[in-house]
Amino acid sequence: MNDLHGKRIVLGLTGGIACYKAAELCRSLVKAGVQVQVVMTEAAAQFITPVTMQALSGQPVYTSQWDSREGNNMAHINLSREADAILIAPASADFMAKLIHGKADELLSLMCLARPLQTVPLILAPAMNREMWAHPATQRNVAQLNADGSLVLGVGQGDQACGETGDGRMLEADEIVEALEAFWTPKVMSGQHVLITAGPTYEAIDPVRGITNLSSGKMGFAIARAAQHAGAQVTLIAGPVSLPTPRNVKRLNVRSALEMHQAVQQTVSDASIFIAAAAVADWRPASSAEQKIKKDGSGETPSLNFVENPDILASVAQNARAQKGELFCVGFAAESHDLLAHATAKRVRKGVPLLVGNIGPSTFGQDDNALLLVDAQGAKELPRDTKTRLAHQLIQNIARRLSSV
Ligand code: C5P
Repeated sequence: MNDLHGKRIVLGLTGGIACYKAAELCRSLVKAGVQVQVVMTEAAAQFITPVTMQALSGQPVYTSQWDSREGNNMAHINLSREADAILIAPASADFMAKLIHGKADELLSLMCLARPLQTVPLILAPAMNREMWAHPATQRNVAQLNADGSLVLGVGQGDQACGETGDGRMLEADEIVEALEAFWTPKVMSGQHVLITAGPTYEAIDPVRGITNLSSGKMGFAIARAAQHAGAQVTLIAGPVSLPTPRNVKRLNVRSALEMHQAVQQTVSDASIFIAAAAVADWRPASSAEQKIKKDGSGETPSLNFVENPDILASVAQNARAQKGELFCVGFAAESHDLLAHATAKRVRKGVPLLVGNIGPSTFGQDDNALLLVDAQGAKELPRDTKTRLAHQLIQNIARRLSSV
């Protein structure tokens, strides 16, 4: 994982109504521990004032190449040499057109041109009307910027300030922050396709009742995000949870264990890594009533019969590709006690090379966890930390195992 903490980012604003979102972005970056230096074009200052951006970044804003605050009067050199990246958000169509021609007639474009190409990446979050975005000239400029080594992020879709609807909205602040985290994460999973199950399953008794497991899905979603940041193609099969889908992750929603099993069977042949983080219900009611079972006042309780659900992980671990080592399988064990003994036995029973143990009741629904990685050689503890950081450690650990075979 790449923490943004301590990074120095020049946040460049160009003219566009999405400047209002740059204020939120600046706040989020500062909250993540980034030192933000704002630079605004004259057009940007028509949409939001430098005062707002100064207050949010805690630094005076630069708007002119003639700013005499710099001792040598070379703000374009000084600011770009001190930065870990220049982020232009919003990046207007006009500003992108300028960049591809190497124009440098005001501070921000001058700084982009003067930046050390090898060490100071340029990242752009475009924002414009949908017709402007779709125009061949803009698309040509985006392709040229990428070819020149910049990273042009995608755009959002939806209602635009002009009243039209379509592609061209600037990504939301949290999406841009996530894209930056991904940008700085080493691509240890590049070329891998990771299939992950996450969350609980829900087994219906009737249309309004069911049985389920305690699972927020947070660990599985964090693993999906970490694998994507590390360069993997990721498919996430999620039980009923209300978590946002990590950026650039393909999500398939399922409800019951049978649905999850079917979704896994349909997707696993493309995967090179399978991580079963879901808390799958061991049993389901033998039959599910089509109508709500009514309480009739007699005091009698309905009797429920259960049948066992398929063990998704164990069956995948048995498949030919897993047996040949073409599919690396990772299981989870949520225990309440004797973690090492239970996780060790479960790894053998499931037939997987790696099993991740955690104490369920002390992590359900929370943002942190502690993991125990159990393989044929023994066990390794990943001490209590955020699920985000643990997920990155787990992904790195899996990548190391795959690169050493
Ligand atoms: O047997 P137990 O439920 O404790 O095993 C946990 C591990 O097996 C987890 O990785 C879970 O996702 C997986 N599992 C499964 N299908 C089941 C039960 C568990 O894939 N029916």
